[in-house]
Amino acid sequence: MRIDIITVLPEMLESPLNYSIVKRAQEKRLAEIHVHNMRDFSDDKHRRVDDYSFSKGAGMVMAIQPIEKAIETLKKERDYDEIIFTTPDGKLFDQKEANTLSLKKNIIILCGHYKGVDQRVRDLLITREISIGDYVLTGGELAAAVITDSVVRLLPGVLSDETSALTDSFQDHLLSPPVYTRPAEYKGLKVPEILLSGNDKLIDDWKHQKSIERTKKLRPDLYKKFLGKS
Ligand code: ADE
Repeated sequence: MRIDIITVLPEMLESPLNYSIVKRAQEKRLAEIHVHNMRDFSDDKHRRVDDYSFSKGAGMVMAIQPIEKAIETLKKERDYDEIIFTTPDGKLFDQKEANTLSLKKNIIILCGHYKGVDQRVRDLLITREISIGDYVLTGGELAAAVITDSVVRLLPGVLSDETSALTDSFQDHLLSPPVYTRPAEYKGLKVPEILLSGNDKLIDDWKHQKSIERTKKLRPDLYKKFLGKS
């Protein structure tokens, strides 16, 4: 899978996308991630990418020209399945959306900034608008990093069987069960007896039961979805 990210702050994406599993996925050539500086596509002699809003006092708006040029330049090289815009008024991102995106071959993520982009970019060039939560970030870069991370870890071969994405929280509308490591007792708190039993079937049943209990208590909204699916 290939992900092209268009941003005014490419440095902000360097670190989050170059550690751990996402780094390994790129090294194994399972994911290709390219970060593009939007200013490189600006026709302005000062490499400006924003302009004054027609709505008075509304702050700066990302202009059409550099965005269109960046997207068209990429599109000349290959077909894209989705052109995503990160914005707080987009569709709320969740595991289902991550699963859907992980099946695509090539996607572009345009990071929002300032007070938004010219509406005509959204009308004409964008195929999906995504928010990562009901709060406002300084820009769309962190959202792009979140989307990329959650999608890349789902690609076949990225995770080992042991850490398989299929057992992740949310995959079946359930939170993960609690996990323990040594010592078997800490400050009077013991690791549940069943986990020390070596009986795989009992352990699996226990984990499932704990997942259900946790979800019911901590995320009643998810629990409802789980009941609907099972
Ligand atoms: N840009 C600013 N806030 C955002 C959010 N919550 N999700 C996606 N992009 C954003």
